[in-house]
Amino acid sequence: MVSLTSDMSPLHPDRNLALELVRATEAASIRAVPFIGRGAKEAADGAAVDAMRAFFSTVNFDGTIVIGEGEKDNAPMLYNGERVGNGKGPRCDVAVDPIDGTSLTAAGRQNALSVIAVSDHGSMLDASSVFYMDKLVTGPAGVGVVDIRLPIGENIRLLAKALGKPVDEIVVSVLNRPRHEQLIADIREAGAGTRLMSDGDVAGGINAARHNARTDMCVGIGGSPEGIVTACAIKALGGHIQGVLAPRGDAEKQKGLDAGLKVDGEVYEADDLVRGKNTIFVATGVTDGQLVQGVRRDGDFIYTESVVLRGASGTLRRISSEHLTSKWL
Ligand code: FBP
Repeated sequence: MVSLTSDMSPLHPDRNLALELVRATEAASIRAVPFIGRGAKEAADGAAVDAMRAFFSTVNFDGTIVIGEGEKDNAPMLYNGERVGNGKGPRCDVAVDPIDGTSLTAAGRQNALSVIAVSDHGSMLDASSVFYMDKLVTGPAGVGVVDIRLPIGENIRLLAKALGKPVDEIVVSVLNRPRHEQLIADIREAGAGTRLMSDGDVAGGINAARHNARTDMCVGIGGSPEGIVTACAIKALGGHIQGVLAPRGDAEKQKGLDAGLKVDGEVYEADDLVRGKNTIFVATGVTDGQLVQGVRRDGDFIYTESVVLRGASGTLRRISSEHLTSKWL
């Protein structure tokens, strides 16, 4: 049932908002075009941030950035705590990642996305004081089956059984980092294959949870903000996500404790990362990837591909758009 306030504004982020927000991720991707493969990650991110912010002001919602580009003093725009939207629609929490995969973008490598996630006001975990989070993401088959507290080999066996396929057909994606050396060895030792990601574990998590994708599980330590953003998408896909904060040393641990976070290995379940089902996740491809094609300029037109996921309905929509180059670049 649709709930409305007295002035007929929806109380919750709805499908109209989801579709409006795509314009902002499209804009961020398009503005990044001149910087793709040009070795300029800050410039790419800056252009995407500017574009996203400009579009936010035209959208009917009253959002507060919970996960943004950092604190007010370090980030002139889209900083944590900033109010966005025209203030007229539902009160929402907002997470932005104008480019997840700035290094991928600068290098012209696959899997960079422009992302916005939205949920009911007060429902998103602000994990920003601890930079890293250990994550376990699977599709629906893993719900009630896998658990981040178990050894990876056990989770692989359990998931293989739930999916009804042999362990050697399971593919696990993980960020290719020295910190994951043992994890990668353990995955292979269990008999599964790895898909090593150079960056971009938002796309990695979503791909692991999607029906018919080429990976079955995404594990390992990546950014905490990316964990919250991924959780918004996983709600729509009916998948499994758990996170454990991974502070870098005592000072960050204390910062996390001061912010009321669980920093001693306690598990954040999907509902702790983002409460409820009223989540929206929108992403537009910056560079080509498994989830979406990257933004492409071809003469008079710029082509974008986006996905829109809504937790309330469990839908994944794909939106292909053609934009007039003359209006943009
Ligand atoms: P940026 O686009 O902010 O550089 O993030 C890319 C990313 O790969 C994320 O997807 C991931 O969660 C995080 O960085 C991992 O951090 P690190 O590169 O420090 O291992």
